[in-house]
Amino acid sequence: MKVVLIGFMGSGKTSIAKGLAQKLGLKFIDMDEMILNSSGMKSINEIFDQKGEKTFREVELETAQKLKDKANVVISTGGGVVGSEHTMQSLSHNAHVIYLKLSFENAAKRVSQKKLRPPLFQDIEKAKKLFEAREPLYEKYADIIIDTDNISLDEVLNQIEVKLGKGINGR
Ligand code: S3P
Repeated sequence: MKVVLIGFMGSGKTSIAKGLAQKLGLKFIDMDEMILNSSGMKSINEIFDQKGEKTFREVELETAQKLKDKANVVISTGGGVVGSEHTMQSLSHNAHVIYLKLSFENAAKRVSQKKLRPPLFQDIEKAKKLFEAREPLYEKYADIIIDTDNISLDEVLNQIEVKLGKGINGR
């Protein structure tokens, strides 16, 4: 089984992917971590500062292509993967794509608790515009949508497990 979690910054993709991988006995993979490890830089923010968003998106696409044929994994993606049709083609290949939906207010609250504010969440007005532009894209690519506002991590994991159980076997 290949499971791919998509959603806006602050939607809890990493924690949920870790929990889900453990629950389902699958390997956890974090795309941002892969990108960071191959970059030799200290943070995603540093990649944006030094190389620019365009280069980051190119590396993000290459990373998605490496993950195209992976099986028995839960992949946590960066919030911007839905901006590229090619990136999504590789990620969604033989996968269950799960959109972790939440309100902008809750996303902003979560992001403000992070040690490092993501580069595209420095300005709240710009982040809100990005959120609105991306919502239809997350919905377009999702096989499963989980509304994560006001429910616990355990409840999110349970809902995903139930919905995956009703999906196509073997994927
Ligand atoms: C981005 C989200 C980040 C990271 C990069 C770009 C985006 O990941 O990939 O800063 O465009 O939304 P998270 O969604 O894990 O914060």
